[in-house]
Amino acid sequence: MSAFTIETAARFVDQTVTLKGWLYNRRSSGKILFLILRDGTGIMQCVMAKNNVAPDVFAQAEAIGLESSLIVTGRVRAEARAAGGHEMDVTGLEVVQAVADYPITKKEHGTAFLMENRHLWLRSRRQHAVIRIRHAIIKACRDYLDANGFTLVDTPIFTPNACEGTTTLFETQYFDDKAYLTQSGQLYNEATAMAFGKVYCFGPTFRAEKSKTRRHLMEFWMIEPEMAWATLDDVMELAENFISHIVAFVLDTRREELKVLERDTSKLENVRAPFPRLAYDDAARMLEGKGTEFVYGGDFGGTDETLVSEGFDRPVMVHRYPAAVKAFYMETDPADPGKALCVDVLAPEGYGEVIGGGQRLADLDKLQARIREHGLPEAAFQWYLDLRRYGTCPHGGFGMGIERCVAWLCGLEHIRETIAFPRMLYKIYP
Ligand code: 4AD
Ligand code: MG
Repeated sequence: MSAFTIETAARFVDQTVTLKGWLYNRRSSGKILFLILRDGTGIMQCVMAKNNVAPDVFAQAEAIGLESSLIVTGRVRAEARAAGGHEMDVTGLEVVQAVADYPITKKEHGTAFLMENRHLWLRSRRQHAVIRIRHAIIKACRDYLDANGFTLVDTPIFTPNACEGTTTLFETQYFDDKAYLTQSGQLYNEATAMAFGKVYCFGPTFRAEKSKTRRHLMEFWMIEPEMAWATLDDVMELAENFISHIVAFVLDTRREELKVLERDTSKLENVRAPFPRLAYDDAARMLEGKGTEFVYGGDFGGTDETLVSEGFDRPVMVHRYPAAVKAFYMETDPADPGKALCVDVLAPEGYGEVIGGGQRLADLDKLQARIREHGLPEAAFQWYLDLRRYGTCPHGGFGMGIERCVAWLCGLEHIRETIAFPRMLYKIYP
């Protein structure tokens, strides 16, 4: 049998087990100490009765501070009132390290202090819940794509190309050349899609976003599926099924964590395909008279996205934005050449864009012209243009920012809590 963990306590009822963990909290009622321990998998109340242990052990347990590392021995008991449904009656305690001055106390701390102590803050219950939900989201993404015929092909981090505009590039030295940290694996996905049909990449991406918002990180993780022989409609269908699967999986496997976060899960239960589809022009009309800075023809700001999504109980897919405000690689809408065959999926409850994607420009001459119009270095894009020289076809895909998805499903106000060590504007510690 595998070793005891708090998460698996149900399998150990009435057995004497060893729990290795840290002191998360403590309460006392004179002759009984309630040691709340965490072990990485969960939190458990360990009940130490004065007459069950040696006097010096009891005295030591009364004195040690939060986050002391401990090895506790005791018997597991089912206890309906306890978080997780189990408690332990303690018979032995070994203090591995007695801690006296753990900086994060049970009083309220400001966010700046907690971010400075992010390496410790991760131990707290809410942060623990967020990161576990993040893990479930990533697993759901992979499972969905793996089960639907997509091949994982990783794309490079160092690149000679800009994918999402030249203003947010992190430049670095690559021996005698310049290189950039990748903004998106998309361009490489287009190459691998022509080799494998349906592909995805998943990795960190980088944007030197000079704006301080609750939705932007400088380093974030993106999962990007790409399909050969796909149109914008195929891309939207994949996006709605993909998100529906992720939400269902999180609701199914992370109830406890969502409860810790006090997430209103009724809002997530609605998230089922199909999602409403809204043309940019119609979304723009919805913003008229709402008093935002939006002008027709422009991109939506954070507030605009919130206003557009307000009328829907599930994500809304806004498609066919003006080509002028979107990236160089977007396919043109044949029905309206000023528009791009693209889609942004806007999450409900004001969480904004979680997915961006669309159909890619398939024609060699048009793509070449676009690269010039956008002032991109043609030489660096020769390999990309080869994809239009040798067997071009309609194709498309999207990118989902993992942290945006975590913020939404967890109901977090700010993206900084969605990743263990967020990289933010001018902030790179810890
Ligand atoms: O809309 P974006 O810029 O699209 C692309 O990069 C495409 N090349 C992806 C593709 O088609 N394969 O970014 C995609 C998603 C956004 O919808 C958002 O969820 C997230 O990435 N994202 C960010 N997340 C956190 N911080 C930032 N600075 C982000 N920028 C984009
Ligand atoms: Mg976008």
